[in-house]
Amino acid sequence: MKTRLAGYRGDHACHMPLSNLDVSEAKRFQDDSIWSCFERLRMEDPVHYCQDSRYGPYWSITKYRDIVAIDANHETFSSERGVTIVDVPDKHWTQSFIKMGPPKHGEQRATVSPIVAPENLTKLEGLIRRRVRTILDGLPLNDTFNWVDMVSIELTTQMLATLFDFPFEDRRLLTYWSDVAVSVPKVGHAIDTWDKRSTILSECLEYFTRLWNERVNAEARMDLISMMAHSPATRHMEPSEFLGNLILLIVGGNDTTRNSITGGLLFMNQHPCELRKLRDNPKLVSSAVSEIIRYQTPIAHMRRNAAADIVVGGKQIRKGDKVVMWYISGNRDEEVIENADSFVIDRKNVRRHLSFGFGIHRCVGRHLAELQLKILWEEILNARLEIRVVGEPQRIASNFVHGYSALPVQIRA
Ligand code: HEM
Repeated sequence: MKTRLAGYRGDHACHMPLSNLDVSEAKRFQDDSIWSCFERLRMEDPVHYCQDSRYGPYWSITKYRDIVAIDANHETFSSERGVTIVDVPDKHWTQSFIKMGPPKHGEQRATVSPIVAPENLTKLEGLIRRRVRTILDGLPLNDTFNWVDMVSIELTTQMLATLFDFPFEDRRLLTYWSDVAVSVPKVGHAIDTWDKRSTILSECLEYFTRLWNERVNAEARMDLISMMAHSPATRHMEPSEFLGNLILLIVGGNDTTRNSITGGLLFMNQHPCELRKLRDNPKLVSSAVSEIIRYQTPIAHMRRNAAADIVVGGKQIRKGDKVVMWYISGNRDEEVIENADSFVIDRKNVRRHLSFGFGIHRCVGRHLAELQLKILWEEILNARLEIRVVGEPQRIASNFVHGYSALPVQIRA
C-alpha cells in the first residue's frame, strides 16, 4: 500500500465519507480535479457504490483488471440500456450497434469495419498526410490561435467527411451534430433540453437520409452510408436506428481523435524532455501516440447494466444495477501500469491501456485514430515546428468525453 497519496492535494473529496463520493460530477472533469477522487477509490473502494447522484445510483469500477473483466463479459454486463452514465428518456432513445449484443452487433459492426481495416487505411494514408501538411502550412505565425479549432477539429472533421463521403463544404455540421449528441441537458451544456437535442439531431437524420436515398439504388461504394445502405444487416433499419448508428460513428470518429490531438500537444508542452526524446528519435512516434491516447483517455467511461446478480471485487452487484467502467481511472492504475501518473513516450508495454475499451465493443476505429495522430506528429517533426501552449486549456464539462474546447498556442516564425 502506498503511504503518500500523490493526487490528494488537500482536496475536500479526499476527506468526505466514502459513501458521499460521486465521481460523476462533470465539474470535476472540467476543472481537472477528478484525479484525486479516482486515486482514493482505487486505494480504498475499487468497486464503489454511489447511492445518490444526478444519474441515479451506480457502481464505479476503477481498477484496470476489474474493468477488463467486466468489459470482456458482455453476457453479464450488457450495453443494451446505454453506454453512458446518463439514462436517455425513452422518447429520445436511439438504437445503435454499440448498444447491441450478438449476433446483431457483430453483423452491423462487420458492415462498417472494412472502411477502417488496414487495407483501406493504406489507401487513406497519402490523403491524410496531404491534409495534415495543408492544415499545418496554413497556421498563423507569431499569433495566438486555438489549436482545438484550427487543427484538432479540422483534421478529424475532414476525415469523417471522407468516411461518409459527406459534402465537404458542409463538414462542420458533423462537428456540430457530434457536440450536440454528447450534450447532456442540464449539465452545463449549450443544449438545455432533450427536446432541443432531438430537434437538432432530426436535422442530422434528414440530411443523411437524403444521402442514403441517393446511394441505396446506386452501385455500392466504400463510404459508410453506401455500405450501410447495401448491407443486409443495416439495409432495413428504422430511422431511429439509422440515426443512432450515425451518432455512434460521428462521435466515435470525431470527439475522440480530436481530444487526443489536443491532449498530445498539451502533454508535449508540459513534458519538454519527452518532446526532445521524440525529436531525437522520430521512430518513437507510434509509441508516443499510444502514450498520448492512454494519458488523455478521450472516453472517460463506458456504462453497462448487470444482466444477473454477480460479485465483483467482493461486492454484490444486483441484476439491473448500473455499472460504470472508468477507463480514465484504470489507465492510471499503478498495479498494471508502472509510474502511471507520468507521461512517458517510450514506456514498456505502451499499448497496454484501456482507452479503446476491451471485448466485443473494442473500438473499431482505433487504427485510423492512431494513424491520424502518427502522421500529424511526423509532419510536426518534419516541419520542425515549435508549437508553444501560451494559455490555460479550456476543458469540457463532461464525465464522458474527456477533452478540450480550447488550447491557445503560438508558432514562432
Ligand atoms: C467504440 C474509444 C476513435 C468508432 C469505442 C469504445 C471506446 C472508443 C472506449 C467502446 C469500447 C467498449 O465498449 O469496450 C475511442 C478512442 C478513439 C476512437 C479513444 C481515438 C483516440 C474512433 C474512430 C472511429 C471510432 C476514429 C470511427 C471512425 C467507434 C465505433 C465503436 C467504438 C463504431 C463501437 C464499436 C462496437 O460497438 O463494436 N471507441 N475511439 N472510434 N468506436 Fe472508437
